[in-house]
Amino acid sequence: RSIAFIGSECYPFVKTGGLGDVMYALPKALVKQNCDVKVILPRYACIKQEWQEKMVYRGAFDMDLRSDGRSFYVGIMEYVDDSGVVYDFIDNQDFFSYGNPYTNLVDDIPRFCYFSKAALAALNFLDWTPDVIHCHDWQAGLVPLFLKTMFQNTELGRSKVVLTIHNLRFQGKYNIPTIKYWTNLPDYVFNEGALQQDWTEANILKGGLAYADMISTVSGTYAQEIQSPEYGEGLDAHLRYHSWKLRGIVNGIDVDIWDPAHDKFIAAPYDGGNVIERKREDKRALQEELGLEVDDGKMILGLISRLTDQKGLDLVNAVIPGLVDGNTQIVLLGTGDAQYEDSFRYYENAYKGTVCSNIMYDEARSHQIYAGVDALMVPSRFEPCGLTQLIAMRYGTIPIVRETGGLKDTVEPYNKFSNQGNGFTFDRYDAGLLYDAVNRAKTLFFTNRFCWDEMVQRDMAKDVSWEKSAKQYRDLYLELTQ
Ligand code: ADP
Ligand code: GLC
Repeated sequence: RSIAFIGSECYPFVKTGGLGDVMYALPKALVKQNCDVKVILPRYACIKQEWQEKMVYRGAFDMDLRSDGRSFYVGIMEYVDDSGVVYDFIDNQDFFSYGNPYTNLVDDIPRFCYFSKAALAALNFLDWTPDVIHCHDWQAGLVPLFLKTMFQNTELGRSKVVLTIHNLRFQGKYNIPTIKYWTNLPDYVFNEGALQQDWTEANILKGGLAYADMISTVSGTYAQEIQSPEYGEGLDAHLRYHSWKLRGIVNGIDVDIWDPAHDKFIAAPYDGGNVIERKREDKRALQEELGLEVDDGKMILGLISRLTDQKGLDLVNAVIPGLVDGNTQIVLLGTGDAQYEDSFRYYENAYKGTVCSNIMYDEARSHQIYAGVDALMVPSRFEPCGLTQLIAMRYGTIPIVRETGGLKDTVEPYNKFSNQGNGFTFDRYDAGLLYDAVNRAKTLFFTNRFCWDEMVQRDMAKDVSWEKSAKQYRDLYLELTQ
């Protein structure tokens, strides 16, 4: 099977969150399942020079886009990875020369209107008609609409299209005239069953969902949740209507990048056999690096997250003062909303040597934290899948999660009677319940280290790779193209 991935970010070129991980790891896993995969991305100016240098020019053309008839330059730069995945970067520096992949909707709407159409035009230009076009989130949400209208009578008209929701909160809503201007899509797609949100606004994701042949999201529980008003972000009725073509396939992680046995960022790499001793060394190295009191008898709680409302940080804020005691340290890593950056900085000052807030985006530091802490908190308000709890388990770090979305599907709660499970969980979005879950973890850690260590080993042995889920995607592609 041949598949074209279209999305707005992809590790190692550009990543702001889990979408970047998935756009890297899933194509790689699909190649192992004998699929041919091309990944189409914007050529952002912020992609590091070392990658820009590896790209080879494949061609360029002009493309119609706007309703005023103005056409736009599309360049194609290609990079072929050792894994066999082919990356095609859409080049147009008028759209992609900003510092970040995302700025604000004023810029992002034109940018991703352009990108979605240019990605399809590039496939035609390269004379490559994939069996399936797999697009991701609202930034590629116009792909199904362009495909089923302007591209229907081209070669690409034969391709099926899947749209994956990684995060329903972001939908690409903007006023109708602007979207009409930047897409020149026919009027009939601007109706309330498709691209139109209401009288004044268009909704790109909504339109994409209507026109996709299949919709998927990144866990079974999230696929259910988004059909309810509580998690539906205003699109629950739309999703219920389309539920016959909605699937949930849980994410995995790339087990080569996240591999405690061969991790070049950590002080003492380890595997299931020596994790208990070696992880202590990583803990001491982390304490030293971060200026915390060096003592491997203490328990360290970690958090690695974008600092936004999604991630349950108000709960974390509420419980920090109650959690810090002589035996417990807290290490945070994240960037995002100023209110959370500020409160975490405040806590670092208030509890010097016990709390360390790393307000930064730093891959290397994230590896050191995954390896060096004992437990990782993921108390999200909603979580389509979540990767940090999977990475934590792979590193023998016990996840403490709220039972929502992919967190619920991937972390089996610890049962003290059967001594089974992978982590600690709580259900309602409530600071008291997070506090309680962390205290259950602390109790086990300090009073029954034997069972704790067994859980560490169970978590490390758990399969969090892409293999199973990549097969499910492959089956979905087969089903669509039979
Ligand atoms: P989301 O996509 O909603 O941000 P995920 O759990 O799916 O959540 O993915 C988050 C990814 O981003 C993980 O790979 C995590 O390690 C990484 N990450 C988040 N914040 C930081 C940070 N400040 N520094 C380094 N990596 C981070
Ligand atoms: C989104 C979600 C996250 C998910 C990631 C990759 O960013 O917030 O839960 O893991 O996409 O699918």
